[in-house]
Amino acid sequence: EKQGFKHFMLKEIYEQPGVVRACLEAYFTNDPSSPINLSLPVELYVDLEQIQILACGTSWHAALIGKYLIEQLAGIPTQVHYASEFRYAPSPLTANTLTIGVTQSGETADTLAALAMEKERRSGRELKYQPRLLGITNRPESTLGEMVSQIIDIHGGLEIGVAATKTFIAQLMAFYALALDLAYRRQTISPDQLEEIITSLRQIPKEIEATLERQENLIEQLAHDFAETTDFIFVGRGINFPIALEGALKLKEISYIHAEGYPAGEMKHGPIALLDAKVPVVAIAMPGNVYEKVISNAQEAKARDSRLIGVTPVNDGEAAEIFNDLLPVSNVDELLSPILTVIPLQLLAYHIAARRGLDVDQPRNLAKSVTVE
Ligand code: M6R
Repeated sequence: EKQGFKHFMLKEIYEQPGVVRACLEAYFTNDPSSPINLSLPVELYVDLEQIQILACGTSWHAALIGKYLIEQLAGIPTQVHYASEFRYAPSPLTANTLTIGVTQSGETADTLAALAMEKERRSGRELKYQPRLLGITNRPESTLGEMVSQIIDIHGGLEIGVAATKTFIAQLMAFYALALDLAYRRQTISPDQLEEIITSLRQIPKEIEATLERQENLIEQLAHDFAETTDFIFVGRGINFPIALEGALKLKEISYIHAEGYPAGEMKHGPIALLDAKVPVVAIAMPGNVYEKVISNAQEAKARDSRLIGVTPVNDGEAAEIFNDLLPVSNVDELLSPILTVIPLQLLAYHIAARRGLDVDQPRNLAKSVTVE
């Protein structure tokens, strides 16, 4: 069943181009009069003023990228909450609010409880406070599916590895479709801009394939160097800050190495004190809004003797020079870049764990779905 791969996780990493293709097929049409096909009813969108997203773990990271996309493309204020926190300290009720539960399995106890609480406290109130619930899941037939009126199916296919990889990518695709749908309906982007973004999204599967092809051996080799490493720092900014969190989480989960993800600009407010030659820093530096900022934050880390690993475009001479090691990705639009920048980080976590001889698919203390509080 592993189809020649040593672990399910690696197989699932390689399934990602296919997952993105399935999402593109499901969410986008070739009909210019109705380019996005999420089949969500108009009641979900009408007079929408706020969005709140509830999730845990990797799904929470996908939600942070979703927030970025929704706010930047559609201009709707969006809050992201850890479901386990929200259920005991919910935000004050806001009117005309869409609540989105993101859970790959559709069975995460905290996410379900937070959604149930939200549904309960909104039911029976005046119209503008009524619950509007949307689920984003890989399992529409799950408990989540029963709880909410609307679902976006992420089309990830069965994921066996405890560390989420292809379902994360699939959740991102669902958020691209949702943010674009909202933006299109609210006319915060033009039809031409929409078409341009969809055209670029259609190139992504090939870019993932190229990244996998280019990097697997390189990263497998690089993993040898971290046999004794005990701490890692991941930094990114803007839309790639959640990818720094995700890279760190993957490494923690399967390699048991202490890893932290930080917004690169926060390093100087404390964490930089941790840096020395023993602590590698992975910086996600994609051309765009915050590129120079990330590069200068990376330089600060290098000045503390950290080994600097860059997730950055192949042909960028200036950036390439400051990094000790490169995990090159293609130079795609910053807005779409998280779908690519996460790939080398998944491979890095995988190869470090595999190299250490760990049980990659069933890491200690973890379960595929956390159905208890
Ligand atoms: O099924 P869910 O998406 O609700 O799961 C949430 C988390 O438990 C999950 O993402 C966890 O963090 C993964 N093991 C990450 O790889």
